[in-house]
Amino acid sequence: MKAAVLFSTETDRLQLVDDITVLDPGFGEITVKIMASGVCHSDLSILNETMPQVLPAVLGHEGAGIVTAVGDGVQRVKEGDHVIIAWTAPCGFCINCSGRKRPELCSTMYTTGALTPRFRQGTTPVHGMSGTGTFSEYATIQERAAIVIDDDVPFEIAALIGCGVTTGVGAAVNCAKVSPGSSVVVFGCGGVGIAAIQGARLAGASTIVAVDVVEQKRALARQFGATHCCSPDELEDARTELTGDGFDYAIEAIGLAKTMRMAWDAIRRGGTACIVGAGREEDKLEFSAFEVFFNEKTLVGSYYGSSDVRSDFHRFLRLWKAGQLDLEGMITRRIALEEVNGAFDAMEAGEVVRTVITF
Ligand SMILES: NC(=O)c1ccc[n+]([C@@H]2O[C@H](COP(=O)([O-])OP(=O)(O)OC[C@H]3O[C@@H](n4cnc5c(N)ncnc54)[C@H](O)[C@@H]3O)[C@@H](O)[C@H]2O)c1
Ligand SMILES: [Zn+2]
Ligand SMILES: [Zn+2]
Repeated sequence: MKAAVLFSTETDRLQLVDDITVLDPGFGEITVKIMASGVCHSDLSILNETMPQVLPAVLGHEGAGIVTAVGDGVQRVKEGDHVIIAWTAPCGFCINCSGRKRPELCSTMYTTGALTPRFRQGTTPVHGMSGTGTFSEYATIQERAAIVIDDDVPFEIAALIGCGVTTGVGAAVNCAKVSPGSSVVVFGCGGVGIAAIQGARLAGASTIVAVDVVEQKRALARQFGATHCCSPDELEDARTELTGDGFDYAIEAIGLAKTMRMAWDAIRRGGTACIVGAGREEDKLEFSAFEVFFNEKTLVGSYYGSSDVRSDFHRFLRLWKAGQLDLEGMITRRIALEEVNGAFDAMEAGEVVRTVITF
C-alpha cells in the first residue's frame, strides 16, 4: 500500500512509497483504513528534528477512518466502525489514568505502542508516528487508540479532532480553564491556535487577541472568535490598551522559547500562561529569580489539550454539531497523499490553518 515515510532526517522530505505492508492486528489491536488525515506542525517537527521519532516511520497522527480488521481480545471496536485515532490513549489502569485522573499523561501507549513497528517494507520494520501513522492507506493501532464515532461525521472533520482541535480547544477549556468575561491572548494562528481561540470563545472570554507573524492568519482568526489581532511587535500596545495590567490568560501555540516568554510577559500578576507549542530541547526559557515569586503567575504545560480522549472527542463533536465549533472553516487546503511535502512547505510559509489529506 501507499504511505509517506520518513527514512532519515538528513533530507527534509517524506518519501512516497507504494510497497509498505501494514502489520496484521495483534492481541488488542485493530487495523483502520485511513479516510482522512490532517497535517499538524508536530509532523513537521519530526522532519526537522524538533521532536524525536524512531525511524524509518510513517508520519501522521491526526486521522480518522474505518475499522477493517480486529485482533484477538478486542472488545469495544468492531469491523466497519468509524473511528477517530488518538495519538495518546489512556490504558485505564496506571496511576495517571486512575489515581491521578490525568489520562492524557498515560504513557502506556508510548511504551507499548510507539516503540513497536506498525508496518514493514520488505523485511525492514517501519514505525508509525506515536504508534499511529496516518499518512498511509491503513494503520494498525491499539484498540484503545480508536474512539468510535457516528457514521454521519465527515472523516475530515473527525480527523481534525484527533489532534489540533482537541489540543487547542482543550488547552483553553481543560488546562488554562478560561473563565467567562476574561481576557485571553493566543500566540500562533495555525490549527492549534485557531482551535484555542475557539475554545476561549466557548469558555466566554470577552477579549481574545490573536497574535501571528502572518497578517492573513491574524485576519482569519477573527472569523473564529478573536476580538482583536496584532503582530508580535504590536502586542505591548494592545496589552496596555485592552487590559491595563495584562491578560488573564495566554496560550502559546507556536513552540518557541521566545514566544513562550512573550506569553509569560503578556499576562497580569496572578495570570496563567498555558504552553501548548512543542519546541526544541535546547531552546531554553529564562526567568529571573525575582519575578517568579513576585508576580505569582502560573506557567502550565498542556499535553493533548489535557483531554480525556474517551469523552472529549465526543464533547467536541457535539459542539461542532451544535454549530459552536467551526471545523469546516479550519480546513484551508485539501490534498492527496502524494502532495504531503507541499503541505509542509505551505505550513512553513504560513499559508494554511489545516491541510487535510483525503484518501
Ligand atoms: N501540546 C501538544 O499536545 C501539541 C499537540 C499538537 C501540536 N502541538 C504543537 O503546537 C504548535 C502549533 O501547531 P500547529 O499545527 O497549529 O502549527 P502551525 O504551523 O499550523 O501554526 C503555527 C503558527 O504560528 C505562527 N508563527 C510562527 N512563528 C511565529 C512567531 N515568532 N510569532 C508569531 N507567530 C508565529 C505561524 O505563522 C503559524 O500561523 C506546534 O509546536 C505543534 O508541534 C502541541
Ligand atoms: Zn498534532
Ligand atoms: Zn494509563
